[in-house]
Amino acid sequence: MNYSNLLKKKKAKIAVWGCGFIGLSTLLHYANKGVKSVGYDKNSSVVKALKKNKFHIHNIESWINFPTKGLLKSNLINFTDNYEEILNDRDIICHFIAVPTEKNGRPFLEPIKWVLDKISKSKNNFFEKKKFKPSIIIESTLVPKTTDKYLKKIFYKNKSSLDDFFYCVAPRRDWFETKDKTLTSLNRVFGCNSEKAKKQIFNILKIVSKNVCPASSYKVSEFVKAFENSYRHLDITLANQLAFAFPKDNVREALKLAGTKWNMNTYYPGFGTGGYCIPLSSQYVLEGAEKKSKVLTLLKETVKFDKIVNKKIAKNILLKNPKKILILGLSYKSDVKVSILSPSIDLYNFFKKKKIRVDIFDPLFKKNELKKILNCRYLNDFNLSNYDSMIFMINHRAFQKTIESKIKKMKNLKTIIDNTAHLKKFEKLIQKKNCELLITGKSNWLN
Ligand SMILES: NC(=O)c1ccc[n+]([C@@H]2O[C@H](COP(=O)([O-])OP(=O)(O)OC[C@H]3O[C@@H](n4cnc5c(N)ncnc54)[C@H](O)[C@@H]3O)[C@@H](O)[C@H]2O)c1
Repeated sequence: MNYSNLLKKKKAKIAVWGCGFIGLSTLLHYANKGVKSVGYDKNSSVVKALKKNKFHIHNIESWINFPTKGLLKSNLINFTDNYEEILNDRDIICHFIAVPTEKNGRPFLEPIKWVLDKISKSKNNFFEKKKFKPSIIIESTLVPKTTDKYLKKIFYKNKSSLDDFFYCVAPRRDWFETKDKTLTSLNRVFGCNSEKAKKQIFNILKIVSKNVCPASSYKVSEFVKAFENSYRHLDITLANQLAFAFPKDNVREALKLAGTKWNMNTYYPGFGTGGYCIPLSSQYVLEGAEKKSKVLTLLKETVKFDKIVNKKIAKNILLKNPKKILILGLSYKSDVKVSILSPSIDLYNFFKKKKIRVDIFDPLFKKNELKKILNCRYLNDFNLSNYDSMIFMINHRAFQKTIESKIKKMKNLKTIIDNTAHLKKFEKLIQKKNCELLITGKSNWLN
């Protein structure tokens, strides 16, 4: 039985558990290749919106590299908030799992355990004709060794075993900002529990991904995401440390030029990392390593410094005796509506604790959404004249459109700290307004 052919001929379907950034993009990419699917999300409002053909994810059209409008309306994708529908659907031969695996900056396995409990319990539904093994593809990010340490037990508890399934760990690497780094174009690493599983899942992944890179087992592919991102975490943190070590010098420019070397990337100094992936990656490696292992000192230091870099810069800002600060940007990166572990949140809380008046503005978040994330005042626009200091955290397209005119109109602003270097082109204008512009990592940025 060739799973990929069954899917392509619409004789079978995929199920996707979790319809967020990762799960929804899986559904859309497979639908774009003519594969039928059911998306399950435990959040009924997500399902309700998708059923009405509305995307709950901001700006999705800007990073999906094919037209999406018709796909939601087509009968290729169905959505449900009743998981029994998936378990009872005999046409489903492959389960993609894209639920969260982190909470409050820590690995969190409850959702994925819950999903595997449901799938493994209902093993017999899929085996009715005893002709095929359902496949499970974990897209969520895992701490190395999670399957063997924690997930296998769920199968055993339900009198099943991993070997009753074609099991695969295939971490995602999407960027969700531009159309050139997608599920189609990015190399897709995967590892399975058997050679037969590897063959079937290679072909399932190949329906969408041009380059599929097999690992010898799921144990290896579990490491990949944590390793690659911990390298980035370390590099970004080193850039931040260099900026602190040479505060009078133009470390930003030096790093840009160092990045021209053939085997070097460019990392710019700033307020630290955010989002699901980078800040957690080193923790994931540390968490998965042998407990007695004391050698991962670089990653321990990376986690430690990345957590305090924000406060170190904030303490420096306090020396200027600010009375009212505006933080521009709540997302952890531009044009992506994700505030998980965003440095802006820590920064806001830090100033608040110091009893400084501080506002945060991000046009991507509505009033009710902001309220759930941060106990702060909602602004539907901003006026720089109302503040003496402004921190330009990220470079949303919406900011790019308005910032010049806002600067032209500003009156009392004394200091701008620019985490993006985007405001460099307005330096003369800013100086004319008797305001200093400090760009992270540039000469005298900690002045
Ligand atoms: N967003 C990224 O840039 C990115 C990149 C690579 C990997 N990842 C990883 O992918 C996973 C999912 O991330 P995301 O960005 O899609 O998250 P998300 O928050 O956008 O979406 C997760 C969805 O899962 C749903 N959910 C929660 N528990 C569930 C359950 N038990 N059953 C079904 N649905 C459930 C939530 O309601 C939500 O809609 C995480 O492990 C994350 O680390 C994310």
